[in-house]
Amino acid sequence: MIDAVLNIDAMQGIKQIEDNSLDLIIADPPYGLGKDYGNDSDKRPKNEFLKWTEEWLELIIPKLKNTGSLYIFATWRYSPEIFVFLKQRMIMLNEIIWDRKVPSMGGSTRRYSSVHDTIGFFAKTQDHFFDIDAIRIPYDAETKKARSRSIFVGKKWLEVGYNPKDLWSVSRLHRIHSERENHPTQKPLEIIERMVKASCPTGGLVCDPFAGSGTTVEACVRNERHYIAFEINPEYHQIIEDRIKRVCSEIDNCLPLRSENQSQNIKHPTAGQTQATLFESHRTSKCV
Ligand SMILES: C[S@@+](CC[C@H](N)C(=O)[O-])C[C@H]1O[C@@H](n2cnc3c(N)ncnc32)[C@H](O)[C@@H]1O
Repeated sequence: MIDAVLNIDAMQGIKQIEDNSLDLIIADPPYGLGKDYGNDSDKRPKNEFLKWTEEWLELIIPKLKNTGSLYIFATWRYSPEIFVFLKQRMIMLNEIIWDRKVPSMGGSTRRYSSVHDTIGFFAKTQDHFFDIDAIRIPYDAETKKARSRSIFVGKKWLEVGYNPKDLWSVSRLHRIHSERENHPTQKPLEIIERMVKASCPTGGLVCDPFAGSGTTVEACVRNERHYIAFEINPEYHQIIEDRIKRVCSEIDNCLPLRSENQSQNIKHPTAGQTQATLFESHRTSKCV
């Protein structure tokens, strides 16, 4: 199944993906911090949360191609445990710090205020796909002029822009941002687009197991990448469908959402069970 967003538990969805078929996984799961996603998915006690995290990671890693990679959002609270687990199975390329540009307004008084998310970037093998030119940041005219000394003339990095560092300062989304959807932890499109452009070839396949408001799906649709996404909350699932319809009405070459029984990368159901009934049974299963 490609170009589909399914209203099912990621655990069920991941099992249906063929091994070695994904170019990229962008996982922004519940962080284990008690957020309200209309279900109890972020309210697991620590050990249960870490066990669940390891279970879905164990399921999804084999779905990556050898050239594939994984970004996983976390916070400082559990990223140490999650990264140690992943380092035993994958190659760690970066710990990216997303500085959410939180304004200074009070905050913690018995320790430092936390204003960043931690993003682990892992590759399955040393042959991972990474297109640095797709994500270079152009120099502004002033900086270019300041680098006009002869030793800099003709330097590729000056012409094509610099490569992003592992500290990403991008404001979290506020109500005034036009891309904002009705979801408590929506990620900025700028961040997800950078991951998609750098780590998935054009026409490749991205999986987002915890799609939320559909930021990864929008990034794929806008950048000609295929996608498979899962979201357990039916209201958020509806937000994604509406969002993709809106985006598709704005751009050419849209990869449309497919109906759920157009299977490609998802395994076929067993005899007597159609793909539609297979997903229907997942859809109506109890939320975690
Ligand atoms: C951190 S949010 C993702 C936000 C998303 N990246 C965005 O930009 O909108 C995590 C999402 O995972 C969903 N979720 C939690 N448990 C899930 C599960 N087992 N399967 C699928 N989705 C799940 C939640 O409902 C929530 O919308």
